[in-house]
Amino acid sequence: MILVTGGAGYVGSVLVPELLALGKQVRVIDTLWFENPLPDHPNLELIRGDIRQAQADWLDGVEAIIHLAGLSNDPTADFAPQLNAECNVMATQKLAELAAQKGKRDGKPLRFVFASSCSVYYTATPEAELNMHGKDEATPVSPTANYSKTKRLAEIELLRIAEQVPEFCPIILRKGTLFGLSPRMRFDLVINVFTLNAWKQGKLTVFGSGEAWRPLLHIRDAVDAYIYMLSAPLENVRGEIFNVLHKNYRILELAFWVTEVLEKHRGVSIQVKRDRSVQSGERSYYVLADKLQRQLGFMAERGAAQAVLEIWDALEAGAFGDDPASDPRYYNIRWFKQDQAILERV
Ligand SMILES: NC(=O)c1ccc[n+]([C@@H]2O[C@H](COP(=O)([O-])OP(=O)(O)OC[C@H]3O[C@@H](n4cnc5c(N)ncnc54)[C@H](O)[C@@H]3O)[C@@H](O)[C@H]2O)c1
Repeated sequence: MILVTGGAGYVGSVLVPELLALGKQVRVIDTLWFENPLPDHPNLELIRGDIRQAQADWLDGVEAIIHLAGLSNDPTADFAPQLNAECNVMATQKLAELAAQKGKRDGKPLRFVFASSCSVYYTATPEAELNMHGKDEATPVSPTANYSKTKRLAEIELLRIAEQVPEFCPIILRKGTLFGLSPRMRFDLVINVFTLNAWKQGKLTVFGSGEAWRPLLHIRDAVDAYIYMLSAPLENVRGEIFNVLHKNYRILELAFWVTEVLEKHRGVSIQVKRDRSVQSGERSYYVLADKLQRQLGFMAERGAAQAVLEIWDALEAGAFGDDPASDPRYYNIRWFKQDQAILERV
């Protein structure tokens, strides 16, 4: 049995069906803030629950945990900083302690794969070029934003518990910004929103200079990485941090890339507009993914082109209604702002 927290989210709703297809039993814990996109399946147990009230019996029969639940971007973490700290750090620590106790009790290693983020590499600094040098897992990090700070604090907690309990096996995946289709779609991620704007408006706008670097990752490569970590040799992964990304792009380069793909494969002409009047708070970080390949032979292979075309075709087929840009459910921050009661819902 694999326990997946946050299994009804953007990543989880792609990951869980993959695990089921592999014949795994899966238990999902999720507050269902974004409804339930998961299929009914005899091997799937869905518990509507809040990881802030994690219970020991959630771990009964569990051989590995994939921990995705929490606030998942900067705007929501800034909007609800207390909830962000409670979900992303305190609840992660509590769950990890329960996992460590179980590992100790059973005398068996228990993997705990944690959804961290490459955004921990970004630190606001007047010397923007400091963020341009390639970062690897050994680079000291001191993120200051609410979201990335809590991701880093959670990492530290997991590694601390692992020092005390040999049976507790955290594996930390610092994912790049994701893109691609999911049953619980997000249009607040850069490639997804570029594709939506190209489809809706025939143009896409880059705010600020567009020179910021971003590491990007296809959602299905992220899913492959989680699954890979369930069986990778323990001695190579226990207590390790891995960056997971396909490539770093500059935002402007990415915008042109999306338009090129659509022009070439869907015969549409899309304009790129740069709006320098809007400060986008240019978060820039360039991240290296060599360790994952060197240590485990794993590479994130999927580029953006296929994902852009899949999203375009889904939009054309009406998968997200006539006007997804006006539908708050596809944008975490808008969804929370339109009804804060969602955040109290369990
Ligand atoms: N999407 C990205 O680009 C990206 C990049 C790097 C890291 N991550 C991390 O990966 C994880 C998954 O991201 P996502 O894009 O699927 O996010 P998401 O917002 O789509 O999904 C998060 C899920 O967690 C659930 N959840 C939130 N708080 C909870 C709680 N207290 N108890 C139980 N369930 C709770 C929500 O209902 C939702 O289903 C997150 O931890 C995120 O920080 C995401």
